Amino acid sequence: MSQHDVVIVGGGGAGLRAAIAAAQTHSDLDIAIVSKVYPMRSHTVSAEGGAAAVIKPNDSLEDHINDTISGADWLADQDAVDIFVREAPNEMVQLEHWGCSWSRESDGSVAVRAFGGMGTERTWFAADKTGFHMLHTLFQTSLKYANIARYDEWFATRLLVENGRCQGVVAIELRTGQVRPILGKAVILCTGGAGRIFPFTTNAAIKTGDGMGMAYLAGVPLKDLEFVQYHPTGLPGTGILITEAARAEGGILLNKDGDRYLRRYDLGEPLDVNDPRHPQKRAMELGPRDRLSQAFIKEQEQGNVFDGPYGTYVHLDVRHLGEKKIDKRIPFVRELAKNYGGIDPVHEPIPVRPVVHYMMGGVHTDIEAATPLPGLYAAGECACVSINGANRLGSNSLTELLVFGARAGRNAAHWAREQPEFDGAALERLASDEQERIAREYVRKMDGGERIATLRTELQSAMEEGAGVYRTESSLRATSERIAEIRERFRNVQLDDHSLSFNTELTSALELEFMIGIAEALAHSALARTESRGSHQRTDHPERDDEHFLKHSLAYRSDDTSRIEYQDVVITNWPPAERVYGRDH
Ligand code: FUM
Repeated sequence: MSQHDVVIVGGGGAGLRAAIAAAQTHSDLDIAIVSKVYPMRSHTVSAEGGAAAVIKPNDSLEDHINDTISGADWLADQDAVDIFVREAPNEMVQLEHWGCSWSRESDGSVAVRAFGGMGTERTWFAADKTGFHMLHTLFQTSLKYANIARYDEWFATRLLVENGRCQGVVAIELRTGQVRPILGKAVILCTGGAGRIFPFTTNAAIKTGDGMGMAYLAGVPLKDLEFVQYHPTGLPGTGILITEAARAEGGILLNKDGDRYLRRYDLGEPLDVNDPRHPQKRAMELGPRDRLSQAFIKEQEQGNVFDGPYGTYVHLDVRHLGEKKIDKRIPFVRELAKNYGGIDPVHEPIPVRPVVHYMMGGVHTDIEAATPLPGLYAAGECACVSINGANRLGSNSLTELLVFGARAGRNAAHWAREQPEFDGAALERLASDEQERIAREYVRKMDGGERIATLRTELQSAMEEGAGVYRTESSLRATSERIAEIRERFRNVQLDDHSLSFNTELTSALELEFMIGIAEALAHSALARTESRGSHQRTDHPERDDEHFLKHSLAYRSDDTSRIEYQDVVITNWPPAERVYGRDH
């Protein structure tokens, strides 16, 4: 039985940052990273546009806090936002010292660009491959620490909870198919989001919400899950992200009549793209993502969008930026548009449409990244601390995984030092139960007849149809009923592959089990929130209702369904107000 002090599930940005912080906190601790994929293949690698932190003299911590809180439609906890914004610059400079190659201004200082919903330019970037450079930096840095062990291509399926404390995970070694306990006096979940519960997403195939699913099964609530971010510019067909940086550099959105339609959505006045001050504050294409995605749906309802083989779309036009600037500032946009859209943005506009990108909700944590289950911590997209509330501002999440990844690592290290030795026999029994469950329900099972791909496709359709950009009571009820039926049918899921080594069918089945739980919690949370706020738009309850819903939802697993409770949002110095973009505020 492998034993460690701190076990981190997930080898992306949050997991690696947590590992480094834990290793630095107590050099005698034994730390392990358990990751479904080799760390450099984690989804952080595909982040494009940048990471926000105050660095320039014309910016201020107060402004970053304000933008984040109003972007969140006041559902963010203000103590958490305060910590996030204050710790962000140090984390970014730390990354620079570890070798991250941030793009520079001509005077050698760090370059920043504008991003949606941010009142000023504060997004650090490495061209438009920021995630790659950040992940590389973190991965290389983690290699310096001899006390960080790695379980690459191990898939964690259960939390080990004994004596009221989380004490490790059970995981499958994908190469051999062995199901083994990996004990840890503290466990940190850094498994990313669950965009794959929707059919059209920027998220990698690995983002199936495994950490959220394990926490939910262990009785830990999932917070604010009803808030799902649609990024306004995904490539039709694949869902590949065309970064907001394209708009930050001056790209504009046009409908099928060539109209810069955002001018009609209370997002400010159109800017002259040749204006040397461009891009400018909070206007039009640099509005927040929830508003831009909602504007697309309105244009679609009015018949103002294009119709193509992969659905409706509008145009993102960057041609006026010119080849030189496109190649310097957004080379990946050109590469992606050419390879996956078949067009060269230097010469043609890029077809784009809203695409599921990020979950504001996740495993409930406090500002120390601790969950209500002693010994269990969470950070990154799989967690909800919460700084993103009802709508995350683009480029806050890469910084969030640094700030709260580091906090999780430090706090887990302190906790682990104080814990007694493992009760090996008890934990071994729990692990055997999980081994037996996987064998019984999947590996040895020869009948049932339900196919994974069919159930997954039906689940994704149910989510898109009933819990998409706009929702109603009846759409959410229908979705919840379909999820309940899928859960029932999932009991009869049948695998054809009974081999041990790299059994991707087994992995898919276990992932789908997590996805069903998350979809269920999301739909129930959305049904219970009878108001519209940020990314949660109920057409049957179109107003924000602070009196009843200035609260976080907490979804608990209960008898094969979800029970929803609420917790007050922490308001400190920024009282709730109207969200205003493109006008003086
Ligand atoms: O558009 C983007 O580059 C996405 C950034 C983010 O989600 O933070």
